[in-house]
Parts: sequence; C-alpha cells; structure tokens
Amino acid sequence: MTHFINSSIGKKVIMSLSGLFLIVFLLVHLGINLLLFVSEEVFNEVAHFMAVNPIMFVMQHVLALGFIIHIIYALVTSYLNMKARPVGYAVIDRSKSSSWESRNMLITGALVFSFLVLHLINYFFKMKFGEAEIASDYVLVTDLFKEWYFTLIYIISFVLLYLHLNHAFQSAFQTLGLNNSKWLKRWKIIGTIYALIICLGFISIAACFFARSIV
Ligand code: HEM
Repeated sequence: MTHFINSSIGKKVIMSLSGLFLIVFLLVHLGINLLLFVSEEVFNEVAHFMAVNPIMFVMQHVLALGFIIHIIYALVTSYLNMKARPVGYAVIDRSKSSSWESRNMLITGALVFSFLVLHLINYFFKMKFGEAEIASDYVLVTDLFKEWYFTLIYIISFVLLYLHLNHAFQSAFQTLGLNNSKWLKRWKIIGTIYALIICLGFISIAACFFARSIV
C-alpha cells in the first residue's frame, strides 16, 4: 500500500480521487447557494441547519482534508513532472499536443486557491468566529455583491474555476483508467458541461445580486 501511494501513478490516483470529491462538493455548495433565489427565509433556515448539524461539522473537516491532500499531491506531482521533463536542445511546442487548460493547471489551481482564502475570510470565518452576531446569513452573503470589486473578483475566479475543472474532470477519469477511446471523448464533453454548470451557476448568483443592488 505504502509502495502504491509513493509511486507516481499512486500519487495521481490520490490527486484524482480528492479532486473528484471536491467536484461533488462544488455541486452541493452551488445547490445550497441557489436557494438564495428562493427566499431569505429558506436560505437562512438551511444555513442554520448546516451550522448546527454534527454531520456537517464532521464533513467540514473531511472537506478541509480533501483540499489539503489535493493541493499537496498537485504540488508534488507537478514538481516531479518538471524534474523528469527533458531539458535540452530540442524545443517541443506542447501547445499543439495539449490544451491550454492542461498546461496551466498549476496556475489556475493556485488562483482558485487564492480566491478560496478570500472567500473563507468573506463568509466562513465571519459566520463561524465573527465577533458580531450575524442578523441574517442571507444579508451577509448578498451584501458582498453590492461591491463591484468583490463581484468582479468572484466572477473572474469562477471563470478560472471553469478552466481548472474543464481539464480536471476528464483527467481524473483518465487517471482512474476509465478511458477507452469512446469514453475519453464522453468524459471530455461531460466535464465541459459540468464545469459550465458550476461556473455559470455561481456567476448567476454574483451577477444577479450585484444587478439588484444597482437598480
Ligand atoms: C456565488 C458564489 C458563492 C457563494 C455565495 C458562496 C457562499 C458561501 C458561504 C455562505 C459559506 C459559509 C458556509 C457556512 O459556514 O455555513 C461558504 C463556505 C465555503 N465555500 Fe463558498 N460560496 C460561493 C462559491 C464558492 C466556490 C466557487 C468555492 C470553491 C472554489 C467555494 C468553496 C467554499 C468552501 C470550501 C467553504 C467552506 C466549507 C463550508 O462551509 O461549506 N465557494 N461559501
């Protein structure tokens, strides 16, 4: 087992499994956030349930672990890939054989991580450890999008998330070996549709609440 985890394919499998776990989290997170469109009462009720439910408390720790494992393994495999890449006189133009997304996973991943730090400061830490009592989770969440610069930073981050997910999805299934020639094409299409749903879903929240604040 230790031998597998330390092998290069073992590291990629762990990165793929933790990535798929985060992909599922994003859909659940988007689903809950879309309740903002239903009503203030419904969103606050669900937010309260999430805050007091012990299963959610455990899941938050599992989620944090998922992020930590994914990031550490992404950094290690990228470093090993870089070290193994031959440097020499022949300059290979990789732009012809691979997509922009696949060549920039480390950059889009790092930018999404930076967004995550800002995002946790904006919401999570205020809700969990804020000094002041929060009157309404709904007001805290939607008030952020009254500021054009937060709305812009969030929307740019959702586009970066799209670029990251678009490659990550099909790459994870490829690593896990579920990729005969027919399925490779299908995973690519499913991955793009999934990434679009996540990106446009989150953008709709930021854009709609910003629009509501100016009209
Ligand atoms: C319009 C977009 C988004 C809104 C309105 C939103 C809202 C929130 C809120 C209110 C919380 C605090 C939940 C609580 O503590 O009970 C939260 C936490 C969190 N968000 Fe988001 N979020 C958005 C997009 C994202 C994206 C794109 C990611 C990932 C890249 C993300 C990752 C997280 C994580 C990891 C947590 C902490 C875990 C948790 O409490 O569920 N969020 N978000």
